[in-house]
Amino acid sequence: MTPNRRALVVPDLKKMKRDGKPIVALTAYDATFARAMDDAGIDVILVGDSLGMVIQGHGTTLPVTLDHMVYHAAAVARGSRRAIRMVDLPFMSYATPADALASAARLLREGEAHIVKLEGGESRLDVVRALTREGVPVAGHLGLLPQSVLRLGGYTVQGRDSASAEALVEDAKHLEEAGAAVLILECIPAGLAERITQSISIPTIGIGAGLGCDGQVLVLTDMLGLSSKCPKFCKDFLEGATSISDALGCYVEAVRTRNFPRPEHAFG
Ligand code: KIV
Repeated sequence: MTPNRRALVVPDLKKMKRDGKPIVALTAYDATFARAMDDAGIDVILVGDSLGMVIQGHGTTLPVTLDHMVYHAAAVARGSRRAIRMVDLPFMSYATPADALASAARLLREGEAHIVKLEGGESRLDVVRALTREGVPVAGHLGLLPQSVLRLGGYTVQGRDSASAEALVEDAKHLEEAGAAVLILECIPAGLAERITQSISIPTIGIGAGLGCDGQVLVLTDMLGLSSKCPKFCKDFLEGATSISDALGCYVEAVRTRNFPRPEHAFG
């Protein structure tokens, strides 16, 4: 890690939104990539339950357990010193406030997480309040919710009709009121993501949500061109780069200067 760069803390994210400095986030699942991301200047390392798909080879995130998340979060923690570590609460580990508290305690104690992330809006407010009351920073996640893929019927863009768009705006406001520190917006129209971003004072970090968010996140294997099909919202940063470290640096630079995502990466 570059010396004299202090470790980021959760309130820094809100300050970055106020200062108009785009937040750069990326998923990691092990110590080596976490170290490389710290060196590249990534602000938020997300230990996502996408590990069920990209590490374990499943077709969904549903098989991922709390033990899996703890294992990968602890590995990432051993590699990173500067970035904020956001860790997913996996499927069914936060169905009740009591479950969420017990699960989050493991992610913070054993996985050294700084923020826990959970999917959903209105139905999760009691869980967000319970975690916040105990001092646990929470990231909400709205739009395409991979843990609800069976109900949704696939990985499709959300919030396209006006009723579901309004519901997402309301969900975002309610999550902020309940104490969420940051909000992930996945696969929603760019205009809607921008409207949500402007309606709340906590930062939004988008994936497939356009340039109007306060930051961007991608799945590591997608941005290194390793996925069998690169999603529309993604870019292969290894193409034209000289090394993985160079690709990470190009991603940081592109997000910071608002050169990624481009209009062709967004949904209308
Ligand atoms: O699990 C994950 O990697 C995520 C991102 C898609 C935001 O939740």
